Amino acid sequence: MIKTENLTKFYGNIRAVYRLNMEVPEGDILGFLGPNGAGKTTTMRMVTGYTTPSFGKTEIAGINVQKEPLKAKKLVGYLPEIPPLYPELKVSSYLEFVAEVKGIKGKERKKKVEEAISSTGLEKVAGRLIRNISKGYRQRVGIAQAIIGDPKVLILDEPTIGLDPKEIVEIRQLIKSLAGKRTVILSTHILQEVTSICGSIAIINEGSLIEFGEIREIEKKYGSASLEEIYISAISKEVKNEEHMGNN
Ligand SMILES: Nc1ncnc2c1ncn2[C@@H]1O[C@H](COP(=O)(O)OP(=O)(O)O)[C@@H](O)[C@H]1O
Ligand SMILES: [Mg+2]
Repeated sequence: MIKTENLTKFYGNIRAVYRLNMEVPEGDILGFLGPNGAGKTTTMRMVTGYTTPSFGKTEIAGINVQKEPLKAKKLVGYLPEIPPLYPELKVSSYLEFVAEVKGIKGKERKKKVEEAISSTGLEKVAGRLIRNISKGYRQRVGIAQAIIGDPKVLILDEPTIGLDPKEIVEIRQLIKSLAGKRTVILSTHILQEVTSICGSIAIINEGSLIEFGEIREIEKKYGSASLEEIYISAISKEVKNEEHMGNN
């Protein structure tokens, strides 16, 4: 469903993401793990078509994201690290606006907004200004804008960051309930999140993919090690400094 081929991004001399090869099958929930600065956000922005790679490509359901970004964007719901919320709008008006931008018209728009509100548990706050709702509810609004239009793919960048423990549990449950047949990539640096939601993981460090696959398979490979031990070991490995690309 999602495929990256040698996906690479340089910011000047900074190698943010380097030759990333991943294939995420339909229906999979992939946990994208890595320390701050590892390249998670940059990768997600390239997968969703919001950042152009320096090199390499992404395909979603066979569509080349870089060549046909509009077509690809229709298949993807994206919760960015900082969701583009408008604090002065009511929750329902904001979601109406998002639906409009996504090209959903007339009666269908109202229906899709109502669906998004009910599937993210926003009924109680639908009439309130975004600025006046809690952080947990704001994150639900972020998720609601991502699922409007029923995208087959959800890309969630650190969906539980900055929330309190109760909100974290609730957002995790929400993600699980929304996953269904969708293919999901979710970035985090909380291991608990991965074990409770994901079937597979990608561990990224300094822009390079260190581990990728089903959690069970990776655990087998490392013997009896816990996911925590696997993660620490993966991000402590020195990242190979291959030939420098794009700067010659
Ligand atoms: N717009 C940008 N300009 C310059 N450097 C950037 C930009 N965005 C990210 N970087 C750098 O790229 C690397 C990867 O960042 P990022 O993808 O945000 O990592 P993560 O999401 O895993 O914390 C970091 O070194 C970061 O400083
Ligand atoms: Mg990030």
